[in-house]
Amino acid sequence: MEIITLGDETLTKPATLVADIDKGIADFTAAMLETMMKGNGIGLAASQVGYLKRIFVCHFQGDIPRVFINPEILRTSNDQETFEEGCLSIPGIYADVVRPEEITVQAWNEKGKPFTIDADGLLARVIQHEMDHLRGVLFIDHLNPKKRERVVKQYYRKVRV
Ligand code: NI
Repeated sequence: MEIITLGDETLTKPATLVADIDKGIADFTAAMLETMMKGNGIGLAASQVGYLKRIFVCHFQGDIPRVFINPEILRTSNDQETFEEGCLSIPGIYADVVRPEEITVQAWNEKGKPFTIDADGLLARVIQHEMDHLRGVLFIDHLNPKKRERVVKQYYRKVRV
């Protein structure tokens, strides 16, 4: 799978619900996890591989690989946290983003089993970043316009030589 990068308009489009969690979807999520790990990422949304469905995966050291299909955030904490984010679709760019510290999220796994989890720390961070992808929002969209412009310029200087 190829990861699409900043400038591709697919990244700005909202993803739609998965109707059936079948073998095809399960295989797709396995391929997503593989693609994510190859890129040394800790989260990947289906939009980033050009498939506009509500699916994302994540895996980082100290946690299990996770698949989220048709995820919904049920609750966010009032407490917020600043954390430096990056994205496989904007390689080489990192910036501080403020988000709720804890969330409760409901989703289905690749076997079609529903689950609800309370997440904090890095897991809460990754989930919110990936949820943004599903509505066509990138982490740089959380920055103030000046800072956003600066990092976008920095990205194009680095990548499009
Ligand atoms: Ni991302």
